[in-house]
Order: sequence, then C-alpha cells, then structure tokens
Amino acid sequence: TGAITLDPGYKNSGSCTSKITFLDGELGILRYRGYSIEDLAEKADFLEVSFLLIFGELPTAAQLKQFEVDIRKHTLVNEEMKNIIDGFPRTAHPMGVLAALTSALTAFNPKSVNVDNEKEMYHAVCKTMGKFLVIATWTYRKSMGYPLNYYDNTKGYVENFMRLMFELPTEPYKPNPIVIDALDKLFILHADHEQNCSTSTVRMVGSSHAGLFASISAGVSALWGPLHGGANQAVLEMLEEIHANGGDTDAYLAKAKDKNDPFRLMGFGHRVYKNFDPRAKIIKKAANEVLATLGVDDPILEIAKKLEAAALEDEYFKARNLYPNVDFYSGIIYRALGIPTDMFTVMFAIGRLPGWIAQWKEMRENKEPIGRPRQIYTGESLRDFKKPE
Ligand code: CMC
Repeated sequence: TGAITLDPGYKNSGSCTSKITFLDGELGILRYRGYSIEDLAEKADFLEVSFLLIFGELPTAAQLKQFEVDIRKHTLVNEEMKNIIDGFPRTAHPMGVLAALTSALTAFNPKSVNVDNEKEMYHAVCKTMGKFLVIATWTYRKSMGYPLNYYDNTKGYVENFMRLMFELPTEPYKPNPIVIDALDKLFILHADHEQNCSTSTVRMVGSSHAGLFASISAGVSALWGPLHGGANQAVLEMLEEIHANGGDTDAYLAKAKDKNDPFRLMGFGHRVYKNFDPRAKIIKKAANEVLATLGVDDPILEIAKKLEAAALEDEYFKARNLYPNVDFYSGIIYRALGIPTDMFTVMFAIGRLPGWIAQWKEMRENKEPIGRPRQIYTGESLRDFKKPE
C-alpha cells in the first residue's frame, strides 16, 4: 500500500471528482454546473438552482412547475414527529433539534432509495426538499411555543418558509416581495460549495450506503460548528458585543491577532478563497439594498463595515489573505428580515440542502468506495497488561 500521506484537514487532498461546483480560490470564482454565481443570484430562483445542482441542467418552465408541485406533495410531516419535538426543551438550539428531526425522518421513511432508479431518486429529492423545509421552521415554532404550521400549496417555497415561521392564528403573514427576494438570493448563494465540511460529511456518511436523511442529518451537525455554518450566528453575536462595548472594533482586531487568545474574527478567512469570497461581495451589496429598501437603520451594519475596512488594512489579515466570507454580512440581512439569531445556521442549512442532495446523489452514482482515511499512529508500542495498584 506504500507510505501514508498525512494531510490533516485535507488541505491538499481531493476526495472525489465532481461535476457540480467549480471554485477558484485565487480568482474568487464560484459556478454551479458552469453557471456563474453572480448570474444565478440575479436571474434564477432557489428551486431552479436546486434542480440545476441536483439534476445537472436548468429545468424548463414545465419541469420547474412540476418540481414545485412534487415538492409540495411531500410537505406533510408525520404527526408523530410532533411527539419528538415536544420532548425537547424550548431552550434547545434549533440546529440540534433539526439534526435530530432529520434523523427521525428515517424512522418514518425507512425505505432506502435506489439511486439507479431515476423515478425513485426524483421522489426522494422532492420528499427531502419538502419535509426538511417544514421541520426546519418547526424548530423555531417549538422554541417560541407556537403551534406548528402547515405548508400552503398556493404559495411558493421561499414564501412558505416565512409563513411557516411567522404566521399565527391571530396574525396572518403578509408577504413582502423584498424580503422573499432577498431570502431567495441568500438561499442560492448558500446552495453548494463543493467539498466543505458538511458536504464532505454527507458524502462520507453516504459512502457507507447510509440513507439520504441519515447523511443529511450528519451534514446538519457538521454545519452547526462556529468554524463552518455556525459562523453566521457567531458573527452577529460578535457585532452585537462590539456595539454593546461602545463600538471599539480595534480592540476586537487586536484580540483576533493575539496568538494567546483563541478568539478569531468571525466571518473572516476561508480555506479556499485567498483573494475574496464572491458570495460575500454579493451579500454585502444585498445587505445595503435590503436595509435601505426596508428602511432599517442598523448600527450593526456600520460596525461590520468599520471592522471590515480595518481588517482589510491590517498587516496580520493581509499577510494571511483573510477576507470577509459568506457569513460576514448574511446575518445582518437575516436580522433585518426578522429572523432570530439562533435560526441563522438553520437558514444556511435550508440553502445548502440541494447541494447536500446533489453531492450525495453524485457520490452514489459514481459508485464511490466507502470513505475510510488512514492515519499515522503515534501512541504507545506494545505494553504488558497490569492493573494499576
Ligand atoms: N481571525 C484571526 N485569525 C485567523 C482567522 C480569523 N477569522 N482565520 C484564520 N486566521 C489565521 C490563523 O490563526 C492562521 O494563522 P497562523 O498562520 O499565524 O497560525 C492563519 O490565519 C490560517 O488559518 P487556518 O486556521 O490555518 O486556516 P483554515 O483554512 O484551516 O481555516 C477557517 C479556515 C474559515 C476555518 C478560518 O479562517 C476561521 O476560523 N474563520 C473564522 C470562522 C468563519 O468565519 N467561518 C466561516 C467560513 S466560510 C463559510 C462556512 O463554511 O460557513
């Protein structure tokens, strides 16, 4: 087998070949199936992009319509799932609840999908897209103690997200097209990012031929961490803290640079982008637009801009090619749209879902072997067994 190459964090190891997402970290390029992220964010909608990622081509108008209808058919979640939600304390973090509920879906949908059967796979895709959206919003309803909502078949996917979250028996949800469009764009920007931590996890779990829900539940757990999707919540908490402490961004920069302090500037740096994150560019512009159109004057946005400008001028950040990433400005938009901070990472998960599905499907279609890295053992050599006195 030869010598084992050590590459912690897989900084230089490719784990697969893929036709889904192209990413050039030096030039700041991101494309889904060959289409630029800028074009898709501008001209497509989230379900269109989901279809593109999962099935490889943009849907025709008829295919897209059918996709929406077929997803709708799967938005009813088994009533017994509510018993599981009821078992959680209201203070539970929505990402923990989401991972558990996604895993619980395996119990109610035990039949594993045959990836070589196109019809079965399509059905599984629609089912996952439908049920995941509903349970994602239920995590919020649970935390608020609100009754759970049902999907409205007369409305689109993203509008349904807002309704499922916020509609109350006493307060019908009135959609604001600016909010729906902004969310749609955010979901598109998060939809795939090649072999990031959560996607690699989904592929790895799926490589043992575990089912789609089980693999996605593992992806949700991977996404939760503050170095990955959890960064969007951490960014906003950091900005709020800076604001509460009088807006002293320099003190936070100094903390981030201090090697004896574990603190990192949240929303800065990326494993692959060493020039700029093209998603951050689009999101920054969108944050400005959304806040202006909604008439929101948020001091947090000013702090974010001040912090970004200072970091971009700073030698430490320059030397390490640390730029704002997708999570730096997304939370500011979510906040303006009324999304609670502990739901930010759930928003990321809803956006990333089509990417996880596409990558899982590709991995199985390519008949990839089980993921099983090697190691270099650095522990004790053989010892005589003797119980300690
Ligand atoms: N603040 C301060 N220093 C940093 C930061 C930061 N945000 N990011 C990296 N560094 C330093 C790090 O200390 C190291 O310094 P040195 O060479 O002196 O030891 C150098 O930059 C390289 O960092 P690394 O940890 O080796 O890089 P990585 O590729 O392993 O990590 C990262 C990438 C995104 C995990 C990291 O930049 C980070 O922790 N950022 C903050 C969390 C964050 O915003 N995550 C979101 C990532 S983007 C989308 C997503 O996945 O959700």
